[in-house]
Amino acid sequence: MSHPPAHPPFRILISRDQILRRTHELARQIVADAGDNPLCLVVVIEGARTFARQLQKVLPGHLPLHEVRASSYGASTVSSGRVTLTIAADLPFRGRDVLLLEDIVDTGRTIASLREHFLGQGARSCRTATLLSKPSRRVVELELEYVGFEIPDEFVLGFGMDLDGRYRELPDVVVYEAEVERAFQQASAAS
Ligand code: IMP
Repeated sequence: MSHPPAHPPFRILISRDQILRRTHELARQIVADAGDNPLCLVVVIEGARTFARQLQKVLPGHLPLHEVRASSYGASTVSSGRVTLTIAADLPFRGRDVLLLEDIVDTGRTIASLREHFLGQGARSCRTATLLSKPSRRVVELELEYVGFEIPDEFVLGFGMDLDGRYRELPDVVVYEAEVERAFQQASAAS
C-alpha cells in the first residue's frame, strides 16, 4: 500500500547531498583560516542547528556548540526589523575567535547584531559561516567569510529552517509556496 506524501511537494532548491558536500568544503576553508586557535562555535538557533551539527562533525576536535537565540520572525515571511538576542552570560567567547553559524543571512541584521555584541564584549575576532545567503535582501553591509550557497529572494524551508515551527525536518532546502501548501492541505483533507 502506498502512503500519501507527508509534506507538500515544494520545489527543491538545494539537495541534502549538495549541502553535505559544500559543508566539507567550508570546513576545509575554516580549518585553513583558523590556524592553531580553537574556535568558539556559536550557533544561532533554532534554524542553524542542523547545519551547525553537520559542520561540527567535519571540523576536527569535536568543538562544543554554544547556542544563542536571535529572533526577528514569527508566523511571517518578512523580517520585522528588530532583532532580540538571548545569550548565556557564561558563554566563553572573551579573547577567542568566534565563528557564528547561521542558517541564512537575509537582511543581515541578525549577524550584524551578533557581531557587534561579541566584538564589543571582547571576542578576539568574529567570523560567520552561513549555509545560505540572500544578497539581494541585504539592508546592512556585511562581510560573510563562509557562504554555502547564494540564493535568490525566495522564502526557503527545510534542513533545519522553518516557518513558524513547520517543515524544519525536510531533508532538502525547498522553496515555500503558500499555494502549494494550500493545495496539499485541501487534497489531504479530502482523502
Ligand atoms: P536577517 O536578520 O534578516 O538576516 O534574518 C536572518 C534570520 O531570518 C535567519 O536566521 C532565519 O531564521 C530567518 N530567515 C530569513 N530568511 C529566511 C527564509 O527564507 N527561510 C527561513 N528563515 C529565514
